[in-house]
Amino acid sequence: MKITVVGAGFYGSSLVQRIAEADIVDEVVMTDIIEDKSQGLALDMMQARSIEGFETRIIGTNGYDETEGSDVCVITAGLPRKPGMSRMDLIETNAKIVGDVTRKLVAGSPDAVIIVVSNPLDEMTALCAQVSGFPKHRVMGQAGMLDTARFKHFVAERTGSSASRIEAMTLGSHGDTMVPIPSQVKVDGKPLLEVLEADVVDGIVQKTRDGGAEIVGLLKTGSAYYAPSSAAAAMVKAVVRDTGEVMPVCAWLEGQYGIKDVYLGVPARIGREGVKEIVELPLSDDEVEALRTAAEAVRAKQADVANLG
Ligand code: 2OP
Repeated sequence: MKITVVGAGFYGSSLVQRIAEADIVDEVVMTDIIEDKSQGLALDMMQARSIEGFETRIIGTNGYDETEGSDVCVITAGLPRKPGMSRMDLIETNAKIVGDVTRKLVAGSPDAVIIVVSNPLDEMTALCAQVSGFPKHRVMGQAGMLDTARFKHFVAERTGSSASRIEAMTLGSHGDTMVPIPSQVKVDGKPLLEVLEADVVDGIVQKTRDGGAEIVGLLKTGSAYYAPSSAAAAMVKAVVRDTGEVMPVCAWLEGQYGIKDVYLGVPARIGREGVKEIVELPLSDDEVEALRTAAEAVRAKQADVANLG
């Protein structure tokens, strides 16, 4: 099995490392426009094989010949935010990059599943799907896994529970209309709203929405990559191993939750063909309303982005 990761920035290279160390594929190709960068990173990671105990080959390149025949492609290419910027400020620049990368990838890997992580996430995923011409179930975006992990982190910090004993789901867009779903959250099996006061939960929801911006502000250059690459690696693993796990991902809706013809963060069963099915959770009326509001915000931008890439 072969994976391609486009972009050897911090997100792309840490993703390659996580996939390689999981030792679940034969080859990971990392391509980047900066001459020699991905080659150097690949060599460095390969030299860790005897210590980490993995066999996956890592290939660094600046082109696309080596990516041919990939089973899964992850697009991390594009600019990250600077402090004070919203993800939407990146739309024009990143649309050109994601459009171009998609055309080059699909020429050599017409049967791949594509996972987009470039921002603004929902719009870049829609653009990639459009440019690729792939069936929509083979193009998805990563945001919900990350936003959910951030939500769990903040709940864990507040309750003192272990992050791994928290069940949660964060849906909607990867932006201002992100929809964390408090009604679905459980801490050690107990509903969150029985464990924390409603205003504390509201604060956690807001911290989750601002989770990426908080890290951009602290780093000063670049954006988060440890939790984002964990999130994308989890999706790659679900596809490679055909697990059928339900994960929050940016997927194409065809009437689920009363929403259609838009890419949005929803729970989906993930496997070898990408999205196997969208899972409809029993959400509260307010949560469904928030999801529909998110859908309309994304829909407006997705129409614009079609002309940018
Ligand atoms: C984040 O939220 C990179 O958008 C990503 O950190």
